Amino acid sequence: YKKTNYLFEMRGLESVKVKGKTKRIKPYRVIGIKGIPKHKRGISELYSPLVGREKEFEKIKSALNKVLQGNGVVLTLIGEAGLGKSRTIEEMRKECGEKTVWLSGRSFSYGRTIPFWVILEQIRTYLGVGEFTPEFEVIKRLKRETKRLFGDRTDEYLPYLSLFLSIKVPKNLEKKVKYLDCESLRLQEFVSVKAFFKEIAQNRPLILYFEDIHWIDPESIELLKFLLDGLSDSAVLFLFETRPEKETGLYNIKSYIQKIYKNRYIEIRLKPLKISDANRLIHNLLRLPSFPRILLSVILEKSEGNPFYIEEIMHSFIDVDILK
Ligand SMILES: Nc1ncnc2c1ncn2[C@@H]1O[C@H](COP(=O)(O)OP(=O)(O)OP(=O)(O)O)[C@@H](O)[C@H]1O
Ligand SMILES: [Mg+2]
Repeated sequence: YKKTNYLFEMRGLESVKVKGKTKRIKPYRVIGIKGIPKHKRGISELYSPLVGREKEFEKIKSALNKVLQGNGVVLTLIGEAGLGKSRTIEEMRKECGEKTVWLSGRSFSYGRTIPFWVILEQIRTYLGVGEFTPEFEVIKRLKRETKRLFGDRTDEYLPYLSLFLSIKVPKNLEKKVKYLDCESLRLQEFVSVKAFFKEIAQNRPLILYFEDIHWIDPESIELLKFLLDGLSDSAVLFLFETRPEKETGLYNIKSYIQKIYKNRYIEIRLKPLKISDANRLIHNLLRLPSFPRILLSVILEKSEGNPFYIEEIMHSFIDVDILK
């Protein structure tokens, strides 16, 4: 229940006796999928402000300053699972507030087969639509936004953006796509996506967040290279969150990125928390005036400064009633 209740609505049932367990177990029945899932990490009701990470935040601020001054920037946050990449980025987003347009897109471990998923998500976020929004609504919003961004150049981009989003091309613009071969169409889609982001960034600096980019699909990598190249002089910050695996698509294009962005390529490698910070995190989460030293040292030793492990160990203590 504790592992999955962020995703599903569940109803608690009468506790039952289970073979091999002395205590009765409380089962839950799944009654549906949560509309808006709760965050998957963290212990519900327990919260800690971000601890440590001051140096990392300095780098984040310097990347933000660069984009706020109108430069293209690439910021990569690298770290093992659970070290706090997503959390650090959450804090960065708070820092940005309304100063930037923030568009997120995810990549998935189970190799989502839809090409360009991460960038489709970023565009959909801008349009305020989701994967399951009815087509007529997506068409309406795309028309409205392209008009707002491109004015009388709308027809140059609208047909290809419609194709990219897999929605109907407006009737009067069909001739723009009818006679092109696959390759030319793809190029027009790439050009239009780039133009779309470029226009957005002209009004307000744009942050394109690529969550878990270590799982990015090969088609998105192609488009990403095109965007990195074409948007390096716009106020766009590419924010890449990645685990350190070397075989990832991002790793393969790193030298390409560094060549274009030079000192506007900023990299942060998250390390485990220092003992003093880990200590602080444990106390923040528990808010107990006194905490058995022995438990404290067990958590510190076993977690090796990984905040996710700290939370998980505390979880397990709660599960076996050592902590309530
Ligand atoms: N510096 C920190 N201070 C307080 N809490 C933290 C800190 N870093 C991480 N956490 C907490 O630890 C948990 C794990 O962090 P997070 O999900 O950000 O890790 P991650 O590096 O993104 O992992 P993954 O690679 O699996 O996505 C979260 O609940 C987060 O709030
Ligand atoms: Mg994460």
